[in-house]
Amino acid sequence: MSKAALITGGGARLGKAMALALAEMGYDIAIHYNHSRDESEKTAGEIKALGRSCEIFQANLVKMKEVRTLVPRVFKAFPGCSVLVNSASVFENIDFGEVTEETFDRDMTINFKAPFFLSQDFGALASAELIVNMLDSRITKHDTSHFVYNISKKALRDFTLMAARALGPKVRVNGICPGPVLPPPGKGEDYLIRISQDTPIGKPGSPDYITTALKYIIENTYITGECLFVDGGQHLI
Ligand SMILES: NC(=O)c1ccc[n+]([C@@H]2O[C@H](COP(=O)([O-])OP(=O)(O)OC[C@H]3O[C@@H](n4cnc5c(N)ncnc54)[C@H](OP(=O)(O)O)[C@@H]3O)[C@@H](O)[C@H]2O)c1
Repeated sequence: MSKAALITGGGARLGKAMALALAEMGYDIAIHYNHSRDESEKTAGEIKALGRSCEIFQANLVKMKEVRTLVPRVFKAFPGCSVLVNSASVFENIDFGEVTEETFDRDMTINFKAPFFLSQDFGALASAELIVNMLDSRITKHDTSHFVYNISKKALRDFTLMAARALGPKVRVNGICPGPVLPPPGKGEDYLIRISQDTPIGKPGSPDYITTALKYIIENTYITGECLFVDGGQHLI
C-alpha cells in the first residue's frame, strides 16, 4: 500500500509547497480545498507529473459535517494515509472590540475546532503516523490585532502538545510556526520586508524554509510535541 498525506488548504500557497514536497518524498497526496478548485487541480497535475497519485477533496471547514466526513473520504481513496498537515486557516484582522459571535465562531472553527476533530478522526486510523499543525510565530506574543486568529493558533499550539501525549506512541504530533513567509492577500513583498526588518535574521522567509522543516519533522521520528519556529527569529522580538 502506498504511503499518502492529507494537506488541508493544500492547493495553494504554503499548502501547495508542502504538498509538492511530500510528493517529492514519495507520498501520494490528498489535497483538501474549499474555494480554490482550479488551483488545486493545477497542483494535482504537478504532483501527478512527479509520478505520484493525487486527488482533491472539497470541504468547508466551518461546517462540522464536512469536517467529520473529510478523513473517511480521504481514507477510502488513500488507505495508506499516514500524514495529516492541518494548514487551512483564516487570517482576519479584527480587534477585540469588533469581534462578533459570528466571526469568533468562524475563525475558531476553521483554525482550531476543525484541526482538533480532523486530528481525532485521523488519529484513529490504523495507518496514522504523524500530524503537523501549522501554527504561527505570533503564538509567543500578546498582540491584540488579529485577536481571534492569535487565540486560535495559541489554542492549537497547546492542542499540539496535548495531542502528542494523547496519541503517542502510535502518532507523533508537531507544529510549525512560520513567520513572515508569504504576504497575506492584498499585501505585497514590501509588507514582509517591513515586518521582518527587526527580526534577528532581518529578512522574509520563503516556502522552502517551511518544506525543509516539514521534511525534518517527518524524518526525525523521535520528535513529538515540538513546535518548530521557522520565522527568522521573529518570536524573539
Ligand atoms: N503565509 C505565511 O507567511 C504564514 C505565516 C504564519 C503562519 N502561517 C500559517 O501557515 C498555514 C499556511 O499559510 P498560508 O498563508 O498558505 O494560508 P492561507 O493562504 O491563509 O490559507 C490556506 C487555505 O485555507 C483554506 N481555508 C480558508 N477558509 C477555509 C474554510 N472555511 N474551509 C476550508 N478551507 C479554508 C483556503 O482554501 P481555499 O483557497 O481552497 O478556499 C486557503 O487556501 C496557515 O495555517 C497559516 O496560519 C502562514
